[in-house]
Amino acid sequence: MEIRTVGVVGLGTMGAGIAQVSVQSGHETIGRDVSDEVNERARGTIERYLSRAVEKERMSAADKDAALARLSLTTSLDDLADCDLVIEAIVEELAPKQEMFAELERICRPDAILATNTSALSVSKIAEATKRPERVIGMHFFNPAPVLALVEIVRAEQSSDEAVDDAYRWAERAGKQPVGCNDTPGFIVNRILIPLLNDCVRVLDEARVSPEDLDKAMTNGAGWPMGPCALVDLVGIDIHVHASEALHAALGEERMAPPERLVQMQREGKLGRKSGEGFFSY
Ligand SMILES: NC(=O)c1ccc[n+]([C@@H]2O[C@H](COP(=O)([O-])OP(=O)(O)OC[C@H]3O[C@@H](n4cnc5c(N)ncnc54)[C@H](O)[C@@H]3O)[C@@H](O)[C@H]2O)c1
Repeated sequence: MEIRTVGVVGLGTMGAGIAQVSVQSGHETIGRDVSDEVNERARGTIERYLSRAVEKERMSAADKDAALARLSLTTSLDDLADCDLVIEAIVEELAPKQEMFAELERICRPDAILATNTSALSVSKIAEATKRPERVIGMHFFNPAPVLALVEIVRAEQSSDEAVDDAYRWAERAGKQPVGCNDTPGFIVNRILIPLLNDCVRVLDEARVSPEDLDKAMTNGAGWPMGPCALVDLVGIDIHVHASEALHAALGEERMAPPERLVQMQREGKLGRKSGEGFFSY
């Protein structure tokens, strides 16, 4: 099936970015969040990003207008009935996601692909809430979705080859770099990166290194494009702690548990860039 119309459920950080990727690559896109206010905030974010691309001459004003015209917003899930692909990006909790998928199955065509952007939950467990689990897959975008090219296309236990292949091809057409993987905790990047970043944070105390020097060490000694402290600040301390806890609960390796230093920062409201303070001040 060629995917033409895309639904995006949840228009927060990730959903707004995914909707932007979709309209920018020529797909009619219907975004659904819980209120008009949240919907309009998402439209504003997308508009701002696209305007910046026009200012930087990476996009023409006509292309920006055409992209925005492909975006429609709704608070009613029923409006997603004709979508070929629906990507869910609501809260990272199993019960609301299962409810959402059961509801989407009721509303959408039987051949529609239902994808979750979950970072840490089991896609197979989300699929269990439906009667057509073969149409359910994971499409794990990275933040910011319009900038980072990777999309992990996650095959759950019952996902059909067709659903996986169609989503993979859509991601390519949307200008992304899809990579297929099985439904294992953390998928690819988070499975590797989360314990690695936790090790980096532990080294701060073990080797008595400052965040500035640790970042200097990893950018200059390991060729990382960004230091680990700057990266955790960008991701958000709370998001990283939550992801560490989920990975630790699933796989039980000590390195996956969030280091005490990060838990303490979260308690103090030092959440990184978004709160103005983390390892560094912003
Ligand atoms: N933030 C990241 O770095 C990141 C990266 C990859 C994947 N994810 C995953 O993406 C998903 C969304 O994360 P986020 O950071 O964008 O969260 P967010 O809090 O920014 O946005 C979630 C949005 O979902 C909306 N929502 C909640 N329930 C809804 C419902 N029933 N119907 C429609 N909208 C609903 C909320 O109003 C909110 O706007 C999570 O599963 C998260 O794990 C996040």
